[in-house]
Amino acid sequence: MPREGGPGVLEAHRRDLPGPGPGEAVVRVEATGVSFAEVQMLKGRYFMQPKFPFVPGYDLVGEVESVGEGVDGGLVGRRVAALTQTGSWAERVALPAKDLAPVPDGLDPAEAVAAVTNGVTAWQMIHRAARVRPGQTVLVHGASGGVGTLLVQLARLAGAEVIGTASASKHEHVRALGAVPVDYRNDDVPARVREISPEGVDAVFDHVGGPGLVDSYRMLRKGGTLVSYGSASTLGDAGHRLKPYLPIVGRVLLWGAVPNGKRATFYYVQRWPKFFQEDLSTVLSLLAKGEIEAHATTRMPLERASEALELLASGGASGKVVLVPEPGTRPDAR
Ligand SMILES: NC(=O)c1ccc[n+]([C@@H]2O[C@H](COP(=O)([O-])OP(=O)(O)OC[C@H]3O[C@@H](n4cnc5c(N)ncnc54)[C@H](OP(=O)(O)O)[C@@H]3O)[C@@H](O)[C@H]2O)c1
Repeated sequence: MPREGGPGVLEAHRRDLPGPGPGEAVVRVEATGVSFAEVQMLKGRYFMQPKFPFVPGYDLVGEVESVGEGVDGGLVGRRVAALTQTGSWAERVALPAKDLAPVPDGLDPAEAVAAVTNGVTAWQMIHRAARVRPGQTVLVHGASGGVGTLLVQLARLAGAEVIGTASASKHEHVRALGAVPVDYRNDDVPARVREISPEGVDAVFDHVGGPGLVDSYRMLRKGGTLVSYGSASTLGDAGHRLKPYLPIVGRVLLWGAVPNGKRATFYYVQRWPKFFQEDLSTVLSLLAKGEIEAHATTRMPLERASEALELLASGGASGKVVLVPEPGTRPDAR
């Protein structure tokens, strides 16, 4: 990703990857996710982005090819997953071995990668942030997207009823996941949610931000939790990329100070807490057991990254878009 622009500015480069340093492993990438974070990064609007130029790629699944000093040689040949935030759109990557999580046998790499960032994000928001319990009702904004489809499934698995907002063309998909769909483009969402759940909902998962965040908070019933985790609605705004997050943080703090029984929190996925690996393993094992599906519906070779990003940015994708580096690429290929 050389500079700010549209998906067409992406460039493919080939460079030598030095062997793994101490504590590192070289992973041959089998699948790497395309996420809304890259759509935001390309516009310079992602709040934790590096300076241009950089190699994007939030997560990967691949096979360990070699390991550096101090790393168990038994790791070679194992399929692993990692959350990298940037750098995964590559054929091979050198990563700290301690950041790699084992992928259960038999899982398709594209399905597995669709559950890395999105799966851990959804799992932690449901179980660590909102603590969803059986019999509750939750509202998932963007229920047709990468994170949204997993939020719906994990909330259903936790025993909750789910209302999911999505464009009308994706309602069938949202219904098939087990949620009641609401059209956020044409419906009055708070009014529809009140019809479906007159007492309000126990949790709202909001990646949209902007003025609608207030509606999300108001739709909570007493004891409910708003989990804000993005600002998709401000993608086209001008000004500093952190600006849209100030009102979100301000509101979350303000609502936290009001003793009305409702809670509000901002969530951000990170790989360093101890429970990241634990939660990733839990999600991958649910996937391996077939209790959730990751819906890696669109798979493209790495060379078509621009097209993949365009598809996601235009709203044309349902489920997860995954880049699959061509099989058979050799380390010495030029
Ligand atoms: N905080 C964190 O740790 C964290 C981690 C991962 C992702 N995220 C955030 O999560 C969001 C989703 O990421 P993703 O990769 O899953 O993206 P995605 O696959 O592109 O899905 C985004 C979804 O948002 C929906 N949407 C867009 N505008 C909406 C609105 N105004 N109201 C309701 N839904 C709307 C779209 O629905 P339709 O296509 O049906 O129109 C689409 O399904 C992004 O904002 C991303 O930055 C945050």
